[in-house]
Amino acid sequence: MNFADWMSAVQDRTEAALATYLPPADTLPARLHDAMRYAALGGGKRVRPLLCHAAGAVFDASSDELDRAACAVELIHAYSLVHDDMPCMDNDTLRRGKPTVHVEYDEAIALMVGDALQSLAFQVLAETPAAPSRHSRLSSMIALLAHAAGSRGMAGGQAIDLAAVGRTLTLAELEQMHIHKTGALIRAAVLLGGHCGEADDAALANLTHFANRIGLLFQVIDDILDAEASTATLGKTAGKDAAQNKPTYVSLLGVSRAKELAAELRDNALAALASFGARGERLAGLTRYIVERDF
Ligand code: IPE
Ligand code: IPE
Ligand code: MG
Ligand code: MG
Ligand code: MG
Repeated sequence: MNFADWMSAVQDRTEAALATYLPPADTLPARLHDAMRYAALGGGKRVRPLLCHAAGAVFDASSDELDRAACAVELIHAYSLVHDDMPCMDNDTLRRGKPTVHVEYDEAIALMVGDALQSLAFQVLAETPAAPSRHSRLSSMIALLAHAAGSRGMAGGQAIDLAAVGRTLTLAELEQMHIHKTGALIRAAVLLGGHCGEADDAALANLTHFANRIGLLFQVIDDILDAEASTATLGKTAGKDAAQNKPTYVSLLGVSRAKELAAELRDNALAALASFGARGERLAGLTRYIVERDF
C-alpha cells in the first residue's frame, strides 16, 4: 500500500473507532454527548493516531489494539484543543474549519467536553482486551498516557505557554514549552504504538529519541504555519500567535531560521529510525509529512 493510501486507511479506521467509543449523541446528557462528538469527529489530521499505528507497524502490533491506543491519545488531544480555544486560554472561534465548542455550545459545555473526553480516553485504553500476561504492560501504558497528559506533560506545557504571553523566552525555555505542550502527546502516541507491539527497552529508547525530535518539530511547524498560512487552509485563525504576543519559534528566530531548525529536527528524527530499517518506513513518511504539510 502506498503512503497516501495507508494514511487515509488509518484516518478512516480512527474516525470509525472514535465514533463507536463516543457515547451516542441522543443518549442523556444529550447536549454534552453531542458536543463531545462535535469536538472529536469529522476533522483533524489524526497525526497522533497515525504515529501510533506507524510505530506499531515496526513491531507487527495488532491493528485492533492500536486503534484503542491511537484513539486514547486522540481523545486527549481533542480535549486539549477544546480547552486551548476557550476564552480563558487562546480565545479562538475557529477549529478544524468549524466554530469552536464554546462558541457552538457554551463555555460550561466546553469545559465538561474536555473533562469527559479525557475520562473516555483512559476508559478506552484501560478496556483493551489483554491476556493476563500483558496486564503489566497495559498498566504501564495507562501510566504513560497519564504522565503525558498531566502537569508534567501537555497540561504543564499549556501552563508554561500561558505564563509566557508577552514575555521573551530564551531558546531553551521555548523548547521546554513546546516539548511539554505538544511533544508529550506525540511521544505518548509513538510509545503506545511500540508497547502494543511488545517493543523491548532498547527499541523503546530509540522510539523515544525519535519522538522527542518530531514532537518539537510538530510545534515548530505549527508556529510557522500560524505565521505563513491562511485561515481558510488552516481551519483555525491564522496569525494569532503574533496577535496574542505568544513567544514562538517564529517570533524568536524568524521564519527562515525556524525552517532551518525544522529541517535539522527532521533529519535527526529520520536518523533515529535507522535501526528499524525498512520497518520504520511509515514513521519516516510521517516525519516528512509533518514538515511538508500545509495545515
Ligand atoms: C494542533 O494540533 C495543536 C498543536 C498541538 C500544535 P494538530 O495540528 O494535530 O490539530 P488537528 O488534530 O489536525 O486539528
Ligand atoms: C496548542 O498549541 C497545544 C495544545 C492544544 C496542547 P497552540 O495553541 O499553538 O495550538 P493551535 O495553534 O491553537 O492549534
Ligand atoms: Mg495554545
Ligand atoms: Mg491555540
Ligand atoms: Mg499554534
